[in-house]
Amino acid sequence: FSTISLPSSQQAEPPSFGIAFDIDGVVLRGSTPIGGATKALRRLYDDYGVLKIPFIFLTNGGGVRESKRAAELSEFLGVKISPLQVVQGHSPFKQMVNRFENELIVAVGKGEPATVMSEYGFKNVISIDEYALCFDNIDPLAPYKKWSTMEAAVSSTKKSIINSARVQAAFVVSDSVDWSRDVQVLCDILRTGGLPGSEEGPQPPLFFAHDDLKYQGAFSSERFGMGAFRIALESIFNSIHTKALTYASVGKPNPVAFKNAEVVLKQLASSLHHDLTTVDHANSRSHDFQKLYMIGDNPLVDIKGARQAGHPWFPILTRTGVFKGDPHSNHAEFPANLVVDTVEDAVNFILRNEL
Ligand code: G3P
Ligand code: MG
Repeated sequence: FSTISLPSSQQAEPPSFGIAFDIDGVVLRGSTPIGGATKALRRLYDDYGVLKIPFIFLTNGGGVRESKRAAELSEFLGVKISPLQVVQGHSPFKQMVNRFENELIVAVGKGEPATVMSEYGFKNVISIDEYALCFDNIDPLAPYKKWSTMEAAVSSTKKSIINSARVQAAFVVSDSVDWSRDVQVLCDILRTGGLPGSEEGPQPPLFFAHDDLKYQGAFSSERFGMGAFRIALESIFNSIHTKALTYASVGKPNPVAFKNAEVVLKQLASSLHHDLTTVDHANSRSHDFQKLYMIGDNPLVDIKGARQAGHPWFPILTRTGVFKGDPHSNHAEFPANLVVDTVEDAVNFILRNEL
């Protein structure tokens, strides 16, 4: 990626506002741009394709490294997106490295969940795909799953290490691909103190990237998200175990996600004229925003989170995703400050208001 920079005349005063875009149901459905997203985003760059308004993507989605997601988004949306502009549901897991840096942890979900966690600094992480292969017959349905082809990839040495080490934590990084196996294996880990097949033991910590019950993908009606998987896991765990499942989720609407987004936006605003790979963290703390706009489609996630986060967040709800209310309506329990049809309308409103 080339440097995101501003002409020197604009460097003195970083903008007093920033924007966080939700992805699914706001700028994309699957990999297709929606709601005039391409045109709207282009307005945030100058004529040379250089970023002039600090914005990030604040999505609960994930499963790939931020750098890879940035490259994908650049391709889908036709503008240069830096990895610093991508904050995913699992991004706050980075802040837990000190606690679990050298501990054996299991990473669950589609894409490359173990690679994501390794890049965050976790040194002893194994994907649930590989973990399940270390225990013979742990998934009795495996022979019927035509897509599982990894069997040969696990060495007998690795198998014997994993068979005798206790998992210290499980991280659900992205949507589970194989619910039946993942519910089974996670219950095995969680009820035995981290070693499937052994006696009951204290539940290791369990973390979810987010708790979205549903999201708007490419299909016409919403799809089940990580929150639906959590309900399935929790309900089964609580039926087989006397102590209720404990867990935490770090993505939107958790205030941690919005705090983290604000920090990233400050870094971005303060360094618009620097190379984004060498962000000046000290400088980023000095920049204060008057307003941070959150443009989302899910009232219970994006709008609730921005409302709870308080100043300087200003939630805007679009009608292109989970929220399908009538024009001029709002969500009853978590009303946005503004409801618009599309992300393009939201950006037009913001720029009219701010410039
Ligand atoms: O799985 C992703 C989905 O739950 C939400 O993505 O971009 O709408 O936060 P997003
Ligand atoms: Mg969304």
